[in-house]
Amino acid sequence: MAVQAAERERAQAARLPEGDVIRTLLEQHARIRDLFVDVRSTHGEHRRQAFAELRALLAVHETAEELVLRPVSRRVVGEEVANARDKEEAEATRDLRELEKMDVFAAEFDARLATFEEMVGRHALREETSEFPAVSAECDAEQRHAMGDALRTVERFAPTHPHPSTAGSPVRQWMVGPFASVVDRVKDTLEKGGRAAARGATGPPI
Ligand SMILES: [Fe+2]
Ligand SMILES: [Fe+2]
Repeated sequence: MAVQAAERERAQAARLPEGDVIRTLLEQHARIRDLFVDVRSTHGEHRRQAFAELRALLAVHETAEELVLRPVSRRVVGEEVANARDKEEAEATRDLRELEKMDVFAAEFDARLATFEEMVGRHALREETSEFPAVSAECDAEQRHAMGDALRTVERFAPTHPHPSTAGSPVRQWMVGPFASVVDRVKDTLEKGGRAAARGATGPPI
């Protein structure tokens, strides 16, 4: 099911121009679904890496949506829908934080991951049906491209780990996000370096 949804999202994305914010978000939804499948179906170090990639992509994707997409959708689809999506993202961030603290090889992790995957999939579908078409209809190609640029910029600087204290609140995201991002990216680099060292790699961690 996740595979079919990812295919549908990629097909929709391919119909939009390169750089369009909705195209980028749809491609990321598809990638998120692929990574859930990867985490579920792999073992050992591969599973750990797939979860690290999923965790980082989800963290930056949801932050960027809150900062770039949501202000526009708040205007075009209304406060109620925008608040509902922000709330789901705050809940997903809390759950992702809990998963992050668990051992990816524990039996309990699989059960929690399955529930989380369902929740994230439902959230993505709601965005695709309630927000994306309205934003596409309201904004012209140039505006959507500019939003795409803004989204990619935010994603370059967004925290790569879930931060429940800032999720769902654009004000807190702007205030705490950049600092949390630096800390997260240093942590990621050290973790990658540690894994490379454990495999006997030489040279500085990248
Ligand atoms: Fe979202
Ligand atoms: Fe999304």
